[in-house]
Amino acid sequence: MKQLCLSLFLCFLLSFTANGASGDTHITIETQQTALVIRIDKDQTPTLVHLGPKLRNIAEYAAIPGNGKRGEDYTNIYNSVYTPAGSRNLLEPAIQVTHADGNPSLDLKYVRHETQAVADGIVLTKVYLKDPQYPFEVTLYYKAYQKEDVIEQWSSIRHTEKKSVTLHKYASANLYIPAQNYYLTHFHGDWANEMNPSEIPLTEGIKILDSKLGTRADLFQPPSFLVAINQPADENQGEVIAGTLSWSGNFQLAFEVDPLHNLRIIPGINPYASAYSLAPNTEFKTPAFLFTYSNQGKGGASRSLHRWARKHRIPQGEGNRLTLLNNWEATYFDFNEEKLSALFKDGKKLGVDLFLLDDGWFGNKYPRNNDKTGLGDWQENVKKLPHGLGYLVKEAESSGIKFGIWLEPEMVSPKSELYEKHPDWVIKLPNRSEYYFRNQLVLDLSNRKVQDFVYNVVNDLMTKNPTLGFIKWDCNAVIYNAYSATIQNQSNLYVDYVQGLYNVLERVRAKYPTLPMMLCSGGGGRVDYGALNYFTEYWPSDNTDALERIFIQWNYSYFFPSIASCNHITDWGKQPIKFRTDVAMMGKIGYDIVVSKLTEPELTFSQEALKTYDRVKDVIWKGDLFRLASPYTNDVASAMYVNEAKDRSVWFTYLVKNRYKAGSMAPIKLSGLDPAKSYRIQELNVYPGTNSTISKDTVTYSGNYLMTIGFNPQVDTRRTSVVLELAEAK
Ligand code: GLA
Repeated sequence: MKQLCLSLFLCFLLSFTANGASGDTHITIETQQTALVIRIDKDQTPTLVHLGPKLRNIAEYAAIPGNGKRGEDYTNIYNSVYTPAGSRNLLEPAIQVTHADGNPSLDLKYVRHETQAVADGIVLTKVYLKDPQYPFEVTLYYKAYQKEDVIEQWSSIRHTEKKSVTLHKYASANLYIPAQNYYLTHFHGDWANEMNPSEIPLTEGIKILDSKLGTRADLFQPPSFLVAINQPADENQGEVIAGTLSWSGNFQLAFEVDPLHNLRIIPGINPYASAYSLAPNTEFKTPAFLFTYSNQGKGGASRSLHRWARKHRIPQGEGNRLTLLNNWEATYFDFNEEKLSALFKDGKKLGVDLFLLDDGWFGNKYPRNNDKTGLGDWQENVKKLPHGLGYLVKEAESSGIKFGIWLEPEMVSPKSELYEKHPDWVIKLPNRSEYYFRNQLVLDLSNRKVQDFVYNVVNDLMTKNPTLGFIKWDCNAVIYNAYSATIQNQSNLYVDYVQGLYNVLERVRAKYPTLPMMLCSGGGGRVDYGALNYFTEYWPSDNTDALERIFIQWNYSYFFPSIASCNHITDWGKQPIKFRTDVAMMGKIGYDIVVSKLTEPELTFSQEALKTYDRVKDVIWKGDLFRLASPYTNDVASAMYVNEAKDRSVWFTYLVKNRYKAGSMAPIKLSGLDPAKSYRIQELNVYPGTNSTISKDTVTYSGNYLMTIGFNPQVDTRRTSVVLELAEAK
């Protein structure tokens, strides 16, 4: 029996779906397509018995065999919803604690649950668990986004023991999937080489993906993955789970194929060096794990995550973004007011919305003329900018564009006034020599005073320059020699750092809710949904070579929507400006070039491209993405965006190999169109002096034809990138 939730917000209901023959209770967490079903047996033990497509008859969840019934589970908790360590568990736990009395065991029994509609289309289920022997409680939260088919799961841990309890491990979720085969796609890389995919079959035992970087989730691997069930992940078919942890620090994703050949997925904060001391009556809230189940392959999974992120996570996810001209690669640290004023005019001539002043504008005792000094001293350098930022903001505005600025407020240079004044604000071990990452150290955000300092860097800047239009927030260093001068329990530092960062960002967002902010972390170190609570966009990689970017952007697109991806046209790589522009268009366009060095046709092309972009950007940012041809297996990479009404689409195809005759030899089948509609195809971004080979006549094609037979964008070594617009012919 399932009661219907009639009134929003007030609706508390018990969602027992069925009482099976055994008298077990079932809690169902459902979206439009998916169900996650928890069984509570007569001993009040909570297990996960289903994660996959919804059944039509909810009463039948009671018939699902526990553990996939493949053999003996000696403990009856291989499929626990949140596996406690130290009592009867034999596998990887989700939670491991030492109680105040030194007892290292935990058992978790079901107490009750609540289901509540918290907003239109969002249902929150709370499952309360408790240790029968200790005043120690865990509440599991499942937020089900109905239309987007996304579930956000986290846990809250608290106790009323006499002294602090040590949490050794405290995962965000604990999923269980019985199937024949599991294929994990994980991503790895390094600076300027983000998001290389590897797909591997999972075999018995544990595969761990993790990071221990402190300030950021990614340098070597991101906290995002795909698991394909039974067959390797396909773009359009088959069962795929896409998962990602909302946490910008050390993470651990554990994939364990258990003795019954079922898959356990346990994502959360990395327990490495992070035994957390939790005081009585204090809540420890884990970060959220986000996941979606799709039976339409990777494509279905990523479209769900994109819709969810735009609507529910990224600030102004369904709003606007500013195109910009950045001076980093044009000037590096070498600029002055005159140079910048000329760049404002260049930006205006090009046709962008904003000028972004990058690193190098601050520091006086230790001027920021290279990356060794000045971080932390956020005062304008009087030599470079004698009239201050206020003057620059006005200059830019009188040239007709907005002004934005680069900050790296969490970091400090060893040579800075800040370090001289507050050596105890810096993360470093007292008895070891300092070790630098990009010549800098990290401020100790577990310290409230440091949080205030970082908040005030932004707040002062905004108070003095209220029309400042954009912040690029950078975070280049990782944490070495982790040690805080003020924290009580050193092993809380990694967690408290990230929570301190989020506290600051909460305050910034509370005061400046609409300020566009880009998140950069020496490239893509913080492309995660924890950080994207606060940022309108992210920097995928310092590698802006357009050919490389096709691959990097391709892989981020499994999890993150194009509206948040900052794609800049720079001088990296050997590709012509048309190719670079076409690649950047699959996200939010920016420029980091010397406009005055562009040839006449390059400038004309770029000016026209920006106008075209303005006309089609809504389809790219808010449309559904269909990846048509993968750069890993084809001569070309091809992907298209289709708007909700299915009457407009923008389709990108790029040559990624340059062997003899490489190109799109055959039609590429399109996706996501309305088979009954007719479409006219027009080429965009045609370079001055060249002609499109796509006929401009009045031929139209049905969606049915385009999705069954396809269309050849005619990409070859002379036409290395082609952008086509499809519009319904009415
Ligand atoms: C990092 C960023 C670059 C640039 C520099 C400035 O490397 O990724 O885009 O902002 O810092 O120092």
